[in-house]
Amino acid sequence: MATSFIIFLVALMILALIPKNHAIFSRTISKEELGIKENDEKQTHLTLYYHDTLSGSNPTSIPIAKANSTDKSATMFGALAMMDDPLTEGPELTSKLVGRAQGLYGFADQQVSALVMIMNFYLLEGEFNGSTLSILGRDAMSDNVREMPVVGGTGSFRFAKGYVQAKTHTFHPKTGDAIVLFDVYVNHGSTVIGQSDAGSTGSSSTNAAPSPTQQTLPIIIMSFLFIIIFLCIF
Ligand SMILES: *[C@@H]1O[C@H](CO)[C@@H](O)[C@H](O)[C@H]1NC(C)=O
Ligand SMILES: *[C@@H]1O[C@H](CO)[C@@H](O)[C@H](O)[C@H]1NC(C)=O
Repeated sequence: MATSFIIFLVALMILALIPKNHAIFSRTISKEELGIKENDEKQTHLTLYYHDTLSGSNPTSIPIAKANSTDKSATMFGALAMMDDPLTEGPELTSKLVGRAQGLYGFADQQVSALVMIMNFYLLEGEFNGSTLSILGRDAMSDNVREMPVVGGTGSFRFAKGYVQAKTHTFHPKTGDAIVLFDVYVNHGSTVIGQSDAGSTGSSSTNAAPSPTQQTLPIIIMSFLFIIIFLCIF
């Protein structure tokens, strides 16, 4: 009886020792394992001025594509532009650079002038240096306040959710140059344990999944304990 049980446990150990060469596709993990402290969500409000410059010798926003029908459209439907626009602390382009708005916008409405905005706010200042916020939304340019969702983020803004409110500060109809005030309201995922430099986005090693050996180790230890207990009893 005892012998057969020991044989069973030894077989279990051998099975556990066989290397599993497949990756683990899906598993549930704790916040701690992700490096997130419990109940440590933050709300952040950023105020940024966005400079979309089409004119001059150094435009930061350039047309990249349009449809044949775009020129006939009153709303420029089908035109696409890509931007790498400075984000500054104040309304003047010369004020402190705090980030860049990188992405593209397209004229997406056939009735009124409205854009689809697809962009990352790449921040360059303080605790947010190197972190990004991803914004995806509709910008009806003639509205006083345009609200767009913040759909995610990286670095200090991991797990970000929120919204922005965009208000035109100045607009030059002749050139299309615009300065827009962005109020960003974001709820995000807090201090990351072992990541003192909140801006660094590349520390994936601290969040590495346990290796298969780490997972089978408890089974092996349990088996050994069972064997020792059995040898003591019989
Ligand atoms: C767009 O215009 C060009 C040049 O006039 C023409 O060769 C092309 O077939 C047009 N494309 C479409 C989708 O109508
Ligand atoms: C932001 O981070 C970059 C790269 O680590 C660094 O070169 C730069 O000085 C930082 N800027 C600020 C304002 O801290």
